[in-house]
Amino acid sequence: MSYAVIVSSKTGNTQRLADRARAELGEKNEVADVAAADLVLLGSWTDKGGLDPALEPELPALAGKRVFLFGTCGFGGSQAYYDRVLDRFASALPADAQVVGRFMCQGQMPPAVRERYVAMAEKDPARFEPMIENFDRAVGHPDEKDLEALVDALRAR
Ligand SMILES: Cc1cc2nc3c(=O)[nH]c(=O)nc-3n(C[C@H](O)[C@H](O)[C@H](O)COP(=O)(O)O)c2cc1C
Repeated sequence: MSYAVIVSSKTGNTQRLADRARAELGEKNEVADVAAADLVLLGSWTDKGGLDPALEPELPALAGKRVFLFGTCGFGGSQAYYDRVLDRFASALPADAQVVGRFMCQGQMPPAVRERYVAMAEKDPARFEPMIENFDRAVGHPDEKDLEALVDALRAR
């Protein structure tokens, strides 16, 4: 089975998922040309609840393809939220693309984000203290357990 990978990762979290997926599917089976791939892995960091808009030019090539969606997001701990983001990813695909599997997990955020939350928590602790807690939970993700869950999702497709 041949596969192609399309991924957008600004700080490396989603790239780690892509690298593990490649290790699982075999680097020799990867093709650069999406048109020639039996399966396309489409991965993105979460930007305002959806896919990175920079990926938009790549999406028309996914018409009629089998697609595995994956990504990371800063807000963790809620499968309902992961599902909502993945639904948004799916809705960006051409109508006849077939989603054969999907995976989302939390991804750590840059330290400057925490500094901003700490400053804002001085004025609005009820809103920003939970965001600091979420930030701290995200540190180290995706971790080995996340990567294993990705492999499980890939095998279940
Ligand atoms: C401009 C911007 C917007 C973001 N929007 C969201 C969001 O709507 N929901 C969310 O859970 N995380 C959001 N994040 C967090 C990133 O999606 C998250 O840290 C992700 O793991 C980064 O992945 P990467 O390392 O592959 O770039 C945002 C980050 C940035 C920089």
